[in-house]
Amino acid sequence: MAHIIVVGNEKGGSGKSTTCMHVATALARMGHRVGALDLDLRQKSFARYIENRQAFLARSGLTLPSPLYRDLPEGDASDEDRLAAAMAGLGPQSDFLVIDCPGSHTRLSQLAHAMADTLITPLNDSFIDFDLLARVDAETGKVKGPSIYSEMVWSARQMRAQARRKPIDWIVLRNRLGSQQMHNKKKVGAALEELSRRIGFRVAPGFSERVIFRELFPRGLTLLDLKDTGVDQLTLSNVAARQEVRDLIAELRLPGVTPNF
Ligand SMILES: Nc1ncnc2c1ncn2[C@@H]1O[C@H](COP(=O)(O)OP(=O)(O)O)[C@@H](O)[C@H]1O
Ligand SMILES: [Mg+2]
Repeated sequence: MAHIIVVGNEKGGSGKSTTCMHVATALARMGHRVGALDLDLRQKSFARYIENRQAFLARSGLTLPSPLYRDLPEGDASDEDRLAAAMAGLGPQSDFLVIDCPGSHTRLSQLAHAMADTLITPLNDSFIDFDLLARVDAETGKVKGPSIYSEMVWSARQMRAQARRKPIDWIVLRNRLGSQQMHNKKKVGAALEELSRRIGFRVAPGFSERVIFRELFPRGLTLLDLKDTGVDQLTLSNVAARQEVRDLIAELRLPGVTPNF
């Protein structure tokens, strides 16, 4: 059975597709077989990202390790059956299956969450994004209770427990960390620490805010590929960004993965 990594957050623009591409590509580059599914059927950014990579590699005559993408089967079958069929197709050829979710609540996304061995939730470093995880007292900054997305993960955890599967390892990744806004960063960090203990997730330091992320998508590249594509002198910012990807892979503590890039 492939180890299933689901990337979810019921909010657009938090970095789910970017995270999917970086995690999937990093694992492929380390020699693992990686299958990819995109449940954001409207935007399909993860699918597009991988398509762009294939097109770029074909144009430039390069071969780089890549995830294997499959569309969800079309048709009248139930969401359960479509997801099961896609997973059955990719599973046997994959050590890891990376699944991107839409930024809204859908049945497919909920089903995928219940299948997750590892769940990664990227979060923009602001209280607007934090609000999906928990309600916070405006005056004291104290966490008042879980909110919609955390409740959904909780019910996914219940479903897994009933099916006697091992618990989801949930990692909240702080994305788009700025070099300014120290005050906001500290407050969000403290609230996340408190919440992580209450609802059971680990906090991973994620990616800083960097323009390079937007430039990589059209060629389907990740920060780890730059050296192999003719860029021989990485900027300091690119080196730091690449290190953030490596740190994330280490922090995920995936089975059979020794971060050795
Ligand atoms: N750390 C970052 N720094 C700068 N831009 C980022 C960062 N992470 C994501 N982005 C950009 O933000 C936009 C939304 O990211 P995306 O991964 O598509 O989010 P989602 O899938 O959650 O909607 C994209 O244009 C992406 O390039
Ligand atoms: Mg997306």
